[in-house]
Amino acid sequence: MTDNIIKEEITSLVNKKSSFNIIVLKTINSTNSYAKYLAKSGSPHETVVIADSQTEGRGRLGREFFSPEGTGIYMSILLKPEKIAIPMSFLTVAAGVAVCRVLNNISKTPAEIKWVNDIFMCQKKVCGILAEITNDSIKGTIDNIIVGIGLNVTTPDQVFPGKLGNVAGSVFPENISRNEIIAYIINELRTIYIENNIQKLIDEYKAYSLVLNKRINFTKNGETFTGTAIDINMEGNLIARLENGEKVVLKSGEISLGSENFTN
Ligand code: BTN
Repeated sequence: MTDNIIKEEITSLVNKKSSFNIIVLKTINSTNSYAKYLAKSGSPHETVVIADSQTEGRGRLGREFFSPEGTGIYMSILLKPEKIAIPMSFLTVAAGVAVCRVLNNISKTPAEIKWVNDIFMCQKKVCGILAEITNDSIKGTIDNIIVGIGLNVTTPDQVFPGKLGNVAGSVFPENISRNEIIAYIINELRTIYIENNIQKLIDEYKAYSLVLNKRINFTKNGETFTGTAIDINMEGNLIARLENGEKVVLKSGEISLGSENFTN
């Protein structure tokens, strides 16, 4: 099946009440970088940049996001803070929940979220999310939010380079095009930020969590800890209980599960 990314197909499937302006590119360095450039050049709320491949796809913590052509979804959704009610800090949580909803609808394999926002299927990372902002240098306020989503749809295991092959996997959905998946994710994300129900969002995020009630390892202020992930609070922070009973609140960063290291 040819599965080209086609603007008209995506547009025909996105919620008609939305104002999404879909831009499809064959290749780009990074859709997040391009969306930032568009944002600074005056592109409006709900501009979406999608590329068939990226030459410098970026992940969290300065990592690369492997983005080969023809088999993945690399997209960035530009949102303006003044147009959305949901607090900005929840957009990354919202994006994770939106992707999980879609993956759980199109695949029999459950999709789970490894805090903060990596999505796993069968213990392989299939999706990463990178939310970025731009600042208005005069007012000193945030003027754009860019929600970047990278999803491995049909990238074969052997194509992931080096050690990434141990960690990354693909969704391999049956009978569904990348255009449909893109439109469904966009629609779900919009539903969540229009609905603006934080309690419901966090409850759903927790239901998808791969880490809750599991033993985790993490570093905080340069020190390494082992504990149990016991909750995700209303700010989206992870609460861990250490072996001595002390509770630690993790706001960002990286955790690994038990003896297995899921970082990449
Ligand atoms: C991560 O795994 O740490 C986050 C990966 C985010 C990748 C996406 S792909 C689309 C957008 N453009 C980028 O350069 N990065 C994000």
